[in-house]
Amino acid sequence: MQSFLQLVSLFEERFSKELPFPAQPENLYEPCRYFLSLGGKRIRPVLCLMGNELFGDIHEDAFHAAKAVELFHNFTLIHDDIMDKAPLRRGNQTVHERNGLTAGILCGDVMNIFAYDELAKVASHLPLLMRVFNKTAMEVCEGQQLDMDFEARNDVSLEEYIHMISLKTSVLLACSLKMGALIGGSTEGNADKLYRFGKNMGLAFQLQDDYLDAFGTTEKVGKQTGGDILANKKTFLLIKALENGNAEQKEKINVLLAAQPEDKVAQMLQLFRDTKADVACRAAVQHYSDLAFESLEDVAVLNKRKEPLRELANYLLQREN
Ligand code: IPE
Ligand code: IPE
Ligand code: MG
Ligand code: MG
Ligand code: MG
Repeated sequence: MQSFLQLVSLFEERFSKELPFPAQPENLYEPCRYFLSLGGKRIRPVLCLMGNELFGDIHEDAFHAAKAVELFHNFTLIHDDIMDKAPLRRGNQTVHERNGLTAGILCGDVMNIFAYDELAKVASHLPLLMRVFNKTAMEVCEGQQLDMDFEARNDVSLEEYIHMISLKTSVLLACSLKMGALIGGSTEGNADKLYRFGKNMGLAFQLQDDYLDAFGTTEKVGKQTGGDILANKKTFLLIKALENGNAEQKEKINVLLAAQPEDKVAQMLQLFRDTKADVACRAAVQHYSDLAFESLEDVAVLNKRKEPLRELANYLLQREN
């Protein structure tokens, strides 16, 4: 069994050395190489490898699935940054900011195709894995559409929010684990239990992402903090602030949502604090992490084999980037 950090370097070794992009056209493939060279936490591929290692030594197929998942994730980030008008990612310029909108669109498109190309290299259980992967990819698109739709609405409920982040974020973490487990010969029942663990962990992960977007620092997070506030994203923080706030605070929030004053971010952060939405968000991260740990108990493998997954979940709970 290998730790989170060991698996990150094992994956990194293969992934960065074996990037699939050809030389030409340079304006298409150079931004792809640029974006992948910026790193990232590599959580999803590591989850795939961990899911696989629960059932024995890591199989070559698990590396193909892990690479596919990471390529897919990076494709979604490149397009997400266009949709969210984000200038910074991983402490560097986003692709559309650096190379223009066309590069952002096409570089994302081609990276998605390379993800499928990598998945197609899997030797066993390919039709099953393809179904799991495709279902997830469609759900991510659905979640991203809801995320954008919600920008224009001020009545999004917490339930709708959880549904949206489950689609845009959680299912990919869950799918990574499940694919690794299926490659390792897990029964579908056990793989589904792991999927549930991944989904709860994914909810905690996106709640933490929302928290860091508001209260983190650009230096640590590597993204423009306050971006969610500027875009009127319906994050847990905003929904909770509207729910907890008194009439005056709600009015202030609604006025801020309708305008772009220079100090919008600072004003909104103060309202998040005054309404204790920040405290509620931390509690929600803990709640979904607890649910994740409970779901992990149900997975029928030796307890000590689950240790790296627990380690990863704990790391995600405390992360600052
Ligand atoms: C960012 O994912 C997008 C979300 C789903 C919140 P990560 O925080 O895993 O991004 P990288 O790959 O580590 O940069
Ligand atoms: C992105 O959510 C989810 C996907 C890319 C599918 P966010 O928009 O919150 O992610 P960041 O904060 O830009 O990384
Ligand atoms: Mg987004
Ligand atoms: Mg974004
Ligand atoms: Mg975010």
